[in-house]
Amino acid sequence: MTDNLSDQQLEQRETEFQQRIDAEEKIEPKDWMPEKYRQNLIRQMSQHAHSEVIGMQPEGNWITRAPTLHRKAILLAKVQDEGGHGLYLYSAAETLGISREELIASLHSGSAKYASIFNYPTLSWADIGAIGWLVDGAAICNQVSLQRTSYGPYSRGMVRICKEESFHQRQGYHIMMTLARGSAEQKEMAQDALNRFWWPSLMMFGPHDADSVHSAQSMKWKIKRQSNDELRQKFVDQSVKQAEVIELELPDPDLKWNEERGHYDFGEIDWEEFKRSMTGGGPCSRQRLAHNIQAHDDGAWVREAMRAYESKKREAKDQAVA
Ligand code: 3HC
Repeated sequence: MTDNLSDQQLEQRETEFQQRIDAEEKIEPKDWMPEKYRQNLIRQMSQHAHSEVIGMQPEGNWITRAPTLHRKAILLAKVQDEGGHGLYLYSAAETLGISREELIASLHSGSAKYASIFNYPTLSWADIGAIGWLVDGAAICNQVSLQRTSYGPYSRGMVRICKEESFHQRQGYHIMMTLARGSAEQKEMAQDALNRFWWPSLMMFGPHDADSVHSAQSMKWKIKRQSNDELRQKFVDQSVKQAEVIELELPDPDLKWNEERGHYDFGEIDWEEFKRSMTGGGPCSRQRLAHNIQAHDDGAWVREAMRAYESKKREAKDQAVA
């Protein structure tokens, strides 16, 4: 996007770009944008897409084990939605001039990340409830904010995705409510799932603002509209009430209402675990990536068939015109 501009011209372009951002204008694919803005968006949007697709695995494990046909149908719909979210986001990332193959290659090489929460196993049916309630709940906090992101295709993708996430969160919370109000064993299963998914869900919002590599620039360019800590706090405040209603206990002895702040104080995340689970050291990290690579390889014949069909279609069209 530097178009061989002189330093002075580049500076002028960047000033005009920032003025557009400050005026709350949406940046569209054909607009001039700083190369670093484009690269930052490709990074975040592709990792968002990778998260949606990898996130299908832990829940997908329970489609054949759902306790009723009703729960099975709901989980099937949710997992399909997540795949669709991934496709919206890959398509939105492609508008920045990068191919799907490059995006997938960066995931498979490990150079691109995905949300660390998906590197944890789903050990019981209650985990499916905890994922819907907490993981989708955290994703909603983050994605509602991202609806106002400055890049047009990302913002519009978020509007569409948020509509479906609300159903995801409600069905998860209903699973947890049903178990918490069931037998003693069911309540114990729900509490165990909450104990294992609570802290990794808080990690979804990223490091503290002070430790965030990208936040300052992402906020200046309005890629990010609220900070990591601000969204995490919003999620904690809402989750405390939701846990109270279903009489489950959030596993944090430091959780306490702070009248002065008007928010809940809460304990410190295990940042060593965060770094481990984010850089391939999570309990299921290797399995998740291997499964995604295998599925991609298994699907190669479909992509080849589609390409062959497209080129035949183009040939026929060219002949018709000739
Ligand atoms: N897991 C893995 N990596 C994480 C992470 C997490 N939970 N949180 C932060 N990171 C990474 C960042 O990607 C960055 O690494 P990078 O430079 O290699 O990309 C590094 O940690 C530093 O973090 P920053 O705060 O500086 O990075 P960002 O400004 O990008 O903020 C973010 C992190 C808040 C996660 C932001 O990237 C974001 O909003 N991403 C889009 C939201 C997203 O991906 N949500 C998960 C959706 S999955 C889902 O919804 C499925 C559900 O429906 C089941």
